[in-house]
Amino acid sequence: MNTFEKDLLDQAASYTHHLPEKKRGIVSWESPSNIAIVKYWGKYPGQIPASGSMSITLSKAVGRTSIAYHFAGSKKDGGLNFIFEGKQVPAFTKRIKKYLDAISHFLPWLTQSELTIRSENTFPHSSGIASSASAMSAIALGLCEIETQLYNKELTEYFFKKASFLARLGSGSASRSVYGKMAVWGSTTGFKNSCDEYAIPLDDIHENLLGIRDSILIIESGKKQVSSSLGHDLMKTNPYARMRFDVAEDNMQKLASIIRNGETARFMDIVENEALSLHAMMMTSNPGFILMKPNTIEAIHRIRDFRKDTGVQIGFTLDAGANVHVLYPEDQAMKTTAFIDTALKPLCENGAIIHDRMGGGPSKTDLLKD
Ligand code: DP6
Repeated sequence: MNTFEKDLLDQAASYTHHLPEKKRGIVSWESPSNIAIVKYWGKYPGQIPASGSMSITLSKAVGRTSIAYHFAGSKKDGGLNFIFEGKQVPAFTKRIKKYLDAISHFLPWLTQSELTIRSENTFPHSSGIASSASAMSAIALGLCEIETQLYNKELTEYFFKKASFLARLGSGSASRSVYGKMAVWGSTTGFKNSCDEYAIPLDDIHENLLGIRDSILIIESGKKQVSSSLGHDLMKTNPYARMRFDVAEDNMQKLASIIRNGETARFMDIVENEALSLHAMMMTSNPGFILMKPNTIEAIHRIRDFRKDTGVQIGFTLDAGANVHVLYPEDQAMKTTAFIDTALKPLCENGAIIHDRMGGGPSKTDLLKD
């Protein structure tokens, strides 16, 4: 068994002899989405990533979650009311219920509690932005805070580690959203304390990369045709998978120094290599699939041409979808936003772009009401 998991189970066992001091309350967290620089694509059972990954935490694309709890002291099967953007969505409720069941051995008080979870995003669910990362990290943070209230504990470094661990079990990329700026998840030699169980924050980031911008071109706002879960699964039989995991490891090692030295051009090279490798894996899976649209490719060409013509250190990355994340340093924002407005906006569905940037990570927030 993994080390931290064992710690958490020991902690859970100690709670069985210890009744909560507080029985009712409400917590509320706002947690951001993140955009992966090195992609997590392929996993082993128990949400163990096949390679390390690294991401930039976003600022504006956030999810908010309030959890009202009542520790009833007796078994409460089905004691969950989940409301997403003011409505009950049975498919989401089912997913959250399954998640809570799966993590209840780490949070034994859950099985004796009634929860009302209200969740919403600041961006459209169908915009192709990773909503599971923000939603699952906000829920995990909320659950960890409930535990601190029940057992009178502080929000320490351990708190965030546990939140990242629990978020990972909900959605792998959510483990990284628990931290601001940049985070690494998955054991990799480039980052000494990295591990598969939870993400770690990156502190030593060069000023060239601090505050990096991410303008998200909404090429297509509909729901993606292939879920990440299926995509991860298809890596099990992808003949190039082993090589892909080695490339990801190599990119992680290179980034370890690039992030400290602030070599923006090399940073963008790796970012683009990762994006195209991710989509190459999709195309070489069986069945293969293509999530890029003609305007995705056109945007990539325009971005590269603009970089060549102007020397602006701009780059792109892609998620599991058609949308393009345009990355550029904060000090080149003026020139770049003018280019985005004239050359890239026409490629977006209804001209939709979300201008986001590196953010400070989750925070406690006001309660959500119906
Ligand atoms: C392409 O975290 O959505 O965004 O663990 O199955 O929920 P699950 O997958 P998910 O996969 C993210 C895939 C990615 C790359 C990344 O964020 O690293």
